[in-house]
Amino acid sequence: MKSKIYFLTTLLSMTACLFSFKVYQAKPWAVPDKYVQMKNPVASDAEILKDAKALWVKHCQSCHGKTGMGDGTKAAQLDTEMEDFTTDVVQKQPDGALFYKIQAGRDDMPSFKKKIPDEDEIWSLVCFMRSLK
Ligand code: HEC
Repeated sequence: MKSKIYFLTTLLSMTACLFSFKVYQAKPWAVPDKYVQMKNPVASDAEILKDAKALWVKHCQSCHGKTGMGDGTKAAQLDTEMEDFTTDVVQKQPDGALFYKIQAGRDDMPSFKKKIPDEDEIWSLVCFMRSLK
């Protein structure tokens, strides 16, 4: 009996660990291979980050918040859960995956393919997201 309780407690704490580290996505979002392989052609520097921040404030901040934590003014009205961009769930994704998701959109996340037609600007937003960790 004692060992059973011990086993269950271990199992429970392991599950709790998994949840607290959030190593998986709330709703997995598949990215086509072509994008996973892409390298960011825009090299991050102070000037790029300044322009990207302006794009962020204009297009992204209302939902994702000032620092990407998902606490923008519109966040509460959304049905889709947003990840915290400062965490591994997002930071461990390849640049191309973030690029793809910004262009494609899903559910409450708008597609920015038409709103931001300059691909380098989307890449610069990826640079900006990297500066949030
Ligand atoms: C209207 C609210 C809204 C706006 C504006 C918005 N997003 Fe999102 N975004 C979301 C939501 C909601 C999700 C989660 C979507 C999902 O998982 O289906 C998301 C997901 C993402 C993801 C995927 C993260 C992951 O879970 O892997 C990226 C990258 C992203 N947004 C970047 C941006 C950028 C960059 C902008 C601005 C150009 C932007 N978003 C503007 C609501 C928004």
